Amino acid sequence: MAEVRTIAVIGAGIMGRGIAHAAALGGYRTILEDLLPNALRKAETEIRANLDQAVELGKVDAADADAAFSRLEYAGSIDQAAREADLVIEAVPEEMESKIEIFTMLDKICRPTTILASNTSSLSVTEIASVTYRARKCVGMHFFNPVHKMKLLEIVRALETDDDTLAAVVEVGKRMRKEVVVIKESPGFITSRINAMIGNEAFYMLQEGVASAEDIDKALKLGLNHPMGPFELVDLVGLDTRLHILEYLHKSLGEKFRPCPLLAQYVKAGRLGRKSGRGVFEYPEAAKAEDAPESAVGKKLEVIRATAQNSFPVPSDH
Ligand SMILES: NC(=O)c1ccc[n+]([C@@H]2O[C@H](COP(=O)([O-])OP(=O)(O)OC[C@H]3O[C@@H](n4cnc5c(N)ncnc54)[C@H](O)[C@@H]3O)[C@@H](O)[C@H]2O)c1
Repeated sequence: MAEVRTIAVIGAGIMGRGIAHAAALGGYRTILEDLLPNALRKAETEIRANLDQAVELGKVDAADADAAFSRLEYAGSIDQAAREADLVIEAVPEEMESKIEIFTMLDKICRPTTILASNTSSLSVTEIASVTYRARKCVGMHFFNPVHKMKLLEIVRALETDDDTLAAVVEVGKRMRKEVVVIKESPGFITSRINAMIGNEAFYMLQEGVASAEDIDKALKLGLNHPMGPFELVDLVGLDTRLHILEYLHKSLGEKFRPCPLLAQYVKAGRLGRKSGRGVFEYPEAAKAEDAPESAVGKKLEVIRATAQNSFPVPSDH
């Protein structure tokens, strides 16, 4: 099995900085790269704060936290970051063109043995891998937000991914203290596919007048032990994002994912969730913040918006 010692993370946004945190804590030399120097500065500050918090909570020893922090390096170019890496994890925005551009570059820069992973939450890793000459060394590593707290890592085996690559990233996941599930590439992986279905069914129930939104949420939380109700969750993720996912799943997996008309109607009305101040429920605070984008709250909202656009819902830690 290929031994991984150095991990490069491309993109230091919400996910990239969390992945770098987990990699460094797992004992890997970790090189974080972003186009924007400010993203790297923010990442460094945030990782330090999250490590300190983990120490305060007794989850990590102070010495381990310091050692993890000292294993982190920052790079201003992909070339600098990826040249010596055994594994590169790409975490740039969820656009196929960006992923393809990065993978094309990485394929030229990296050693032939280097594994290339994408943190995509929906796109086909097979398609991303097809632009390289090492499709068998390409794989999906779908982390959850916030990475330093969420336990799951979905590993996506693309069409050409070989056993050695898979074994190597499973080992990396374990050293990052994640519970790993391996799946064959399929639309929506496990988490997004199930979650979209539950969320859509909840909208059908609301549309049919089976119960109020509050009671549907309450029933799933108290009766089925879901940490968040489906409407709380969709308001966090963004109704437009959920609709996009359902449209993609409907196209690829068929009728059972047909988006509920009520969800589509809410989106048309601009009820997008927390980010627009109103989704299934109302968020007057967020609506006020939207009017003042320069404020600190406005910045926080940008983060929520970015999360909602890219993420599949993550209960409990949001
Ligand atoms: N946000 C979530 O909850 C979540 C959860 C699971 C998976 N994902 C996936 O993770 C990936 C990243 O999402 P995110 O939320 O961290 O996005 P983000 O917008 O917070 O961060 C992306 C970062 O990539 C940088 N970037 C853009 N182009 C780049 C390039 N060419 N080279 C280097 N850096 C570049 C940006 O400057 C930014 O800092 C996406 O594929 C997304 O679908 C996100």
